[in-house]
Order: sequence, then C-alpha cells, then structure tokens
Amino acid sequence: MSVRRVIPLSTILLALAACGGSPQSTLAPAGPAAGLLAHLGWVVYITFGIAAVVTIIIVLMAALRRRGSLDGHLPIDIGGGHQWILIGGLAIPFVVLTGIFILSLVRESAFPIKDGGKVTPEIQVIGHQWWWEVHYLTGPENEHFVTANEIHIPVGRPVDIELQSGDVVHSFWVPALHGKVELIPGVTNYIRIEADRPGSYQGQCAEFCGAQHAHMRLLVVADSPQTYAAWHQHMLSPAAIPQGVDAQHGEAVYMNAACTFCHTIGGTPSQGKVAPDLTHLASRQYIAANTYRNDTADLEAWVTHAQSMKPGVLMPNLTSFNGVDLRDLVAYLDQLK
Ligand code: CUA
Repeated sequence: MSVRRVIPLSTILLALAACGGSPQSTLAPAGPAAGLLAHLGWVVYITFGIAAVVTIIIVLMAALRRRGSLDGHLPIDIGGGHQWILIGGLAIPFVVLTGIFILSLVRESAFPIKDGGKVTPEIQVIGHQWWWEVHYLTGPENEHFVTANEIHIPVGRPVDIELQSGDVVHSFWVPALHGKVELIPGVTNYIRIEADRPGSYQGQCAEFCGAQHAHMRLLVVADSPQTYAAWHQHMLSPAAIPQGVDAQHGEAVYMNAACTFCHTIGGTPSQGKVAPDLTHLASRQYIAANTYRNDTADLEAWVTHAQSMKPGVLMPNLTSFNGVDLRDLVAYLDQLK
C-alpha cells in the first residue's frame, strides 16, 4: 500500500472514530431496541476484531519466517496446507458465522417490530423526497394533527409508528433508538420505538432515495410525560395569530404567494398538502428535514435559495421575495410556535 493511500485511509478511520461520540450513533443506545442492537454490534466488532488480529499475526509470521528461526513452521503446527484450509478457512469461520447468525436471530425475535394487524399506531410517518410527513393519530379524529421532520415521544414507554412512502423507498432510522425499517410504496411497515431518557436523537433516511438522500434527516425528541402532554396539547391548536405590524404584513405576503398551494398553516386559508406543515414551524429545531438550523438567517436563505441549499428539492427558489417582504415573511414564520 503506497503512502498516498495510507493517508486518506487513516483520515477516514480518524473521522469514523470521531463519530463515536455523536448523538447519531448505534453505540450510544438510548432505548431497549437500540440496546439489543448495540450488544449484537459489540459481539460482532470484538469477534471480527480478534479474527482480524489473529489473521494478521499468522500472515506476518508466514511472511517473516526463515529457516533456522521458526524452522519452516509456525508455532501452532497443524500440519500441511490442506489442514490450514479446512480449519482456518472452513471450520473456524463456520463456527463463528453460525454463532453470530443464531445470536442475530435471537436478537431479531426480541426486536420489537410487531405483527402489523395487531398494532394501533400512535404516529404515522410518510417518507417523501426528501422529508418526513408525521401524523399523530391518538384520540378521536379531530385530535389528530400533522407535523414534519421532528417527532416527539414521551420517555419511558413504547410508541408504535406506522411507516409508509409517498414516492420511493426510504428507510427510517434513529440509531440511538432502533434499527432501520424501510418505507416502501404500497406497503405498510411498523416500528416500535422507546427512549429511556429525555433528549433529542438525530435520525437519517437509511436507503438511497435520490440526490438529497443524505439530507433526509429527522429528529426524535423524547420528552418527560408532562412535557410531552403539553407539547401534544399545543400541537392541537391552530397557528398563532401574528403579533405586530411586521408579522401581520408577513402573513399577508405569505397568503398572497404560491406558498399556500403547497404548505398548510392550520386555521388559515393555506391548506396545501404537498410540503411540510408549517402550523407550528417555529417550534421545530431545524428546517429542510433537519438540514439547517431553524433561525431567521437560514429561513430567509431557504425561502429564496432552497435550490442552492438542497439542490433538487421541490421547494423552488422564491427570489421574488426580498427586502421588507422577505424580512416580514420570516418574522411571521418565526411566530408560528
Ligand atoms: Cu429517503 Cu434516503
């Protein structure tokens, strides 16, 4: 291996090592399903780590041996070449791989994805290129609501989620909470998620779904039961009435623009269904499927230059908004708590 190849590889390994502490990690489980997967992961990493080290040692010894030093033999003398192939190439891999296969089957049987017919999902998630439509389905129909990209759950109890796709195959994955489950057009899948402790857990579409697959992110916020109840109650309310002349002007700018054809703002004439619901946009931590911070500067940039920030997304560059109109429009959006 040339030095040129060693440097980028070591950089990648360092970068991967740095990912260990990030919240989007299978090795930092925050729920029972992720805990099972992390355990399985450690068994696999350690087993194959040992296998790799033993293999490297044997290869090095074979390469370095000299008659007179090791007398042509390795210290573990198991005879001729055929036995090496039978034991090292077949028997040991068979035992190791079978063991891991059985362990993964046991883990999978404990994995809390239930039979679809028996599930009453609290949440329905619909994958779109490239964002997540989220329906809360608890209670009577007039208490259902829609949000996007940020899913709140109460800590300490399981929440069943129904998964569907509006276009192509996506995969729902919040590494700290559960394993990947695909969202397939025409198929309904289910996942049970549970968080052991409060926090915000980053998630990611895990199935290549087009140009912005990598920016199809989501956030699961695990709240204490009280905080969750308050959030849920708040989400049932219509959009905030804009306060102040700037935001009131911004509302007029919004309502007279094409925004209303795609987005919904609850309690207003804006009832478009093809883009994320904005009723409580300002309560969310991120925009553009968790790609940018939900702050004034990024919102202004997103409204006017979405195609630069996330090329190929359905949101067009609305460069006709500028000056006072743009400032007031974003002031209005900022009030949609
Ligand atoms: Cu959706 Cu990748």
